[in-house]
Formats: sequence, C-alpha cells, structure tokens
Amino acid sequence: MPATSKDLSKRIEDLREKIRHHEYRYYVLDDPQISDPEFDQLMNQLIKLETEHPDLITADSPTQRVGGKPREGFLKVRHSSPMLSLDNTYSEDELRNWEHRVHDLSGKKEIEYVCELKLDGMSLALHYKDGKLVRGITRGNGSEGEEVTLNVRTVRSIPLSISKEALKKAGIPADFEVRGEMLMPIAAFKKMNEEREKNGLSLFANPRNATAGTVRQLEPSITAQRRLDYFGYSLLHNGQTYFDRHWETLNALESLGFKVNIRRSLSKNFDEIWAFIQQWEPKRESLPYEIDGIVVKVDRTSLQRELGYTGKAPRWAIAYKYAARSGITRVEDIIVQVGRTGKLTPVAMLKPVPIGGTTVSRATLHNMDEIERLGVKIGDWVEVQRGGDVIPKVTRVVEDKAYPRGHKSFHMPEKCPICGTHVVRTEGEVDHRCVNANCPAKLRETILHFASRHVMNIEGMGDALVNQLTDRGLIKNVADIYKLTKADLLQQERMGEKSAQNVLDEIEASKKLPLERLIYGLGMRFVGERTAQFLAEHFGSMEALMNAPQEELLEVDEVGPRIAQSIAEFFQEAKNRELVERLRKAGLTFTGKKRHRGTALAGKTFVLTGTLTRYARDEAKKMIEDAGGRVSSSVSKKTDYVIAGADAGSKLDKAKDLGVNVIGEKDMEKLLERA
Ligand code: IVH
Repeated sequence: MPATSKDLSKRIEDLREKIRHHEYRYYVLDDPQISDPEFDQLMNQLIKLETEHPDLITADSPTQRVGGKPREGFLKVRHSSPMLSLDNTYSEDELRNWEHRVHDLSGKKEIEYVCELKLDGMSLALHYKDGKLVRGITRGNGSEGEEVTLNVRTVRSIPLSISKEALKKAGIPADFEVRGEMLMPIAAFKKMNEEREKNGLSLFANPRNATAGTVRQLEPSITAQRRLDYFGYSLLHNGQTYFDRHWETLNALESLGFKVNIRRSLSKNFDEIWAFIQQWEPKRESLPYEIDGIVVKVDRTSLQRELGYTGKAPRWAIAYKYAARSGITRVEDIIVQVGRTGKLTPVAMLKPVPIGGTTVSRATLHNMDEIERLGVKIGDWVEVQRGGDVIPKVTRVVEDKAYPRGHKSFHMPEKCPICGTHVVRTEGEVDHRCVNANCPAKLRETILHFASRHVMNIEGMGDALVNQLTDRGLIKNVADIYKLTKADLLQQERMGEKSAQNVLDEIEASKKLPLERLIYGLGMRFVGERTAQFLAEHFGSMEALMNAPQEELLEVDEVGPRIAQSIAEFFQEAKNRELVERLRKAGLTFTGKKRHRGTALAGKTFVLTGTLTRYARDEAKKMIEDAGGRVSSSVSKKTDYVIAGADAGSKLDKAKDLGVNVIGEKDMEKLLERA
C-alpha cells in the first residue's frame, strides 16, 4: 500500500528528530550514543527521502546545514540592542575594587556573581523566530554587525530549530535571541593549519583569527568543512535580558539544547570569585579551546539594570585577563630547518624565556617575507607569543631604548644546511626549497610524517628513533620501515626488548590501515588527508591511481591542475614506483572501496550556476558525479549542460552565447531519473 503523504511527512519528521537528538549528543554534549556509521546511515535515509520528495524539505532539516551560493559580501544588520564589550582587569586588587564598587553603587550587602570562562573567539548573535534560527549576526562595531546566517547554520552545535515543548518547558517565548561566543577548538585549528601548510596556503595565526576568517567565509561549504563551536551566554527577548537571574539564563539555554559552558560557578563573595579564577589559571592549558581570562557578572538582572553602563561596557560585569602568554627575549641566532617537502623554515633561537608555564627557546619566523615584515635581526629583542599549543611565534621587534637593537641581518642560505644542495625560490612562491630529492632532512621528515598518528599511526616511531634509524642508514625510504628486524631496533639507544616488540607490532598493525592513509603517507606534494581520501574513493586501488593519466586525476573532487601534476610527476619517477612496489610486497593495503559511479552521464560536463532551490550545490554536484558526469566551474564550448538556478548571472549569458544547453533543476532530475 503506498504511504500517504501524511505518513511520509511523519516518517521524515521522526527521522529528523532522531538525527537532531544524535547531533546534540555528539556536538553539544560530546557524548555520542551511536557510532559514526550508524549516524551516517540515518542521515542517508533522510537525504534519500528528501531527494525523492523535495517538496517536503524544510529549512530546519539537518540536511540543510550547508546550502546557498557563495556570497559577494555580507549584509549589514542592526543589533536589537548594542552588543557591548567588557572592561578588563589584570590584577587581584583591581578586581577587588570593582567588587567593592558594585557593593557601594547598589547599596546591597549580599550579591551573587556568576563566573564564566572568557572564551577566545568572536561574539555572535543568533535570532530565532517561531523557534527557528533565522539569522546569525557578527558583533561588528557593536551596534551593527554582518549577517552570516548561512555560515552559522553549518555549525552543528547550533540548533536550527527548537521544539515548542522545549521552549515551553524552559519558559521562553518562540521569538528570542541568543548571544554567545563562536570559536575554533585548538585541535581543529591545528588540523586546518597543517592541511593549509601542505597545500601551500597561508596559515592562520591563532584560533581566534581562524574563527573570524571562517565565519566571514564567502563560501558556506568551506565553513562547513572547518569545525567551529558555539557557546551561548545570554538570552534576550526584544533586545532585553529575559530572565531575572543570569544563572537561570544559562540553565535555560542549556535546556534548549545550546552548548553552555559547564565550567561556571555561582559565587557569593570575592573570595569565591578569586578561587574560581585561580582554579582555572593552570587548568586552562588542558582545555580543548583557548580562553584568555574569566568573566565575572552580577547575577541579578534587576541589579544589572541599576548598575547600568559606562560608555561601551557594563558596570555589572568585568573580564579578569590572565597574564598574556607572551614574553620578551633576545634572538641569539636564526637557524634554518628543512621540512619534508624541502621547505626551508627560519627559526629564531631565543634566550630561554618562561611563557605560560613552559620555557620557550625557539620560535618560528615562517619565511623570508615574514622576517622582512618584522624587520628582525639577530641580536634584537622580540616579543614572543604562545597560543594554545601552537608553535611560539615572534610577533614584533621591541623598539625601546632599554633594549639594544641587533645588527646582524639574516640571509637565506644559498645551499641547504643539511645536504649542501642548491636552494631555490620559485617565482611567485614565498618559500625557499632544497632541490635535492634525497636530502636527509627530507627523509627524516618524510618518515616522521608517514609514521604519524593521522597517517600510518606507528606509535613509538618518533623523533629520537627516526633520527637514529636514518643516521645509521637503516631506513632510506618509507618501505624500509617494513624490513626492520628486532635486532635492528635493539641496537638503538633506549630500546629494550619490550619497546622493540611494541614498535614491530605497531608496524605490523599499520599494514591494515585503509588505502587513503597510505596515499597520504607517500607525501606527495599538495596531497593532504582530504585529497587522499577522494583519490582512494575515486580509484579504489593504488594501481589505478599510479597509472591514472592527468585528465582522469582532474576528475577527482577538489583536484586541480597543480595537484594532478604533482601526483603524475610522483608516479612518473621510477624510484617512487619501485617504492610503491616494495610497499605492496610488504603487505600494505592497496585496495579500497571505490565510490560507485553510474555511467548514464558519463562523458557529460555540467556547470551549475545561480541559486539552486531544490538541492544544496554540493548535493547536486554529487548526484551528477555519481551518475558518471563531471561538474566544471566554467562554461566553455565543451560544456554539455548548464543548470541554471535563480539569479544566474554571467555564466548563463556565456552559455547562451555559446549555444550550450541550459536546463533547470527539474530537467536535471529527469536526466538523472533516466540515468
Ligand atoms: S559577556 C555585556 N561572557 O569577550 C556582556 N563575553 O571583551 C558582554 N567573551 O565581546 C559579553 N567569553 O566576545 C561574555 N563568557 C563570556 C565571554 C565573553 C568571551 C568575549 C565576547 C565579548 C568580549 C568582551
């Protein structure tokens, strides 16, 4: 019996509720109840039903987080009431004075305070209408921000809609506004920068900049790939604080499904506030995100109103900032490190200086352009900053009479400091590189990359062991790892029977890791973790990848001419082919699961333009590719079809000029049905 449309709507809505619940468990509570494949299965079921019944798609469906076309800019929007900043204080005395002032001004004896972590991201307002997320606005200048709704929607800890029951239970009207902090967790930040470095892109200086850059991304699908997180800390209705107590606000937000920081306290007096601050100063190093202090807020809303504001900050709240994790020290030398790709990185050797609990004795200077930008010379005194686990960096030269300037300029060496081969800087690139393919520094870094956690995950193969094994000639390439014997390992320093066996077990286990890891492990230039995965899915085997002509490489998601050329060159090299053959003989995984592609649209090239209303752009792209078609970004005589959505611009004009077939989304569906 065919399902009635009511049955179907209910089935779809039930599925959405289930997915929302599991997203909440995973992204808000960090406590998933089901595995990733189980979650994907639910999501796929929903995608399938929605694809079959596009008329039932709703904006708050979990499938609709990524959508919309790239923007040209953002709309400016006025805030419902100003988004203020906080006054800062750096000392216990100043904080005590603030607390006294609150007492004096209010004339009250007993005052309660809420202490929260001061998250180092950017503040952002979320507007909900009828329980649905309708707008996300950056703080901007406080009175006016930028509308970044499409990007905000991709953040999975932000609910797209809130049920009437939940609102009722929390006692919150269906139209409300949440304000809070958007941030990028340190792990996501590091991973993103690693990928960027591999792909030759500029690096973000710290998680805060990365957050701002990601929130203001013009292409929402890029925002979706980077993991952002959002913590709510205030709730407004018509621009006014809604609850009588701030503590109540935080609990209510939590019950609505927002992520609210559990690290908070209700303090009755200065001593309790100070205890909270002291408790978190050392522990902040262990948090998964960066904080730069503690915010103390008066709990009672009525008292907040009485205290009011000075200029742009409230009198009822204050930020206690932890000592900046930076220090001033002298550059004793500038040395050069050679990386896996042969890139030369200048590193400042510093007079050791304690910063935020550790001693810093070196800091990266990135490249020659950065050295010139800073104007740093050997002997200069510089400010060094340490962000959350990021390599310390030199932020400026201290230009103060108390600090003598250095005189010795640094020049990039003409020869590689490790192997003595020529160093080149290709036109248009910022980096200098050693051109010797067999440079020992490259070898060491290649092995370390191969053995690292995200690649072949060979625990125990760290710096110390790799240095010894390469110095002694026991490892000349990654395949040599698989012929190491226990006797080889036992010869190394600090290596007993048990650790040697552990390393061998780890090496053995690595053979079973999926193909994409091995592809990533080969260390081809520009081939990061994500690209490796696409390559594995597309080709399904190392063999097919090795023998792929450049045209076929270009068909792989996100592979452009630069990457395709790098892969082709890698496999043209006889030495590399030999290496791969040895890895195969050693028993590593050479086949994977190929993403099944149909053939009905084989050989056909499509261009998508304008706003698609029935599908997210990525979804349409995937559907075409799954049917064997190719999606290109520009229209040419070779284009078979242009799929035009609303407001299509120049690409549509060009298609008409060239006489290319222009079709709509529905026609695309028909083509696919036939497929
Ligand atoms: S309350 C009027 N709470 O700090 C109240 N702000 O320096 C204003 N921030 O722009 C904000 N964590 O971006 C508040 N728990 C927290 C916070 C927090 C971080 C940021 C926020 C604000 C800046 C003010």
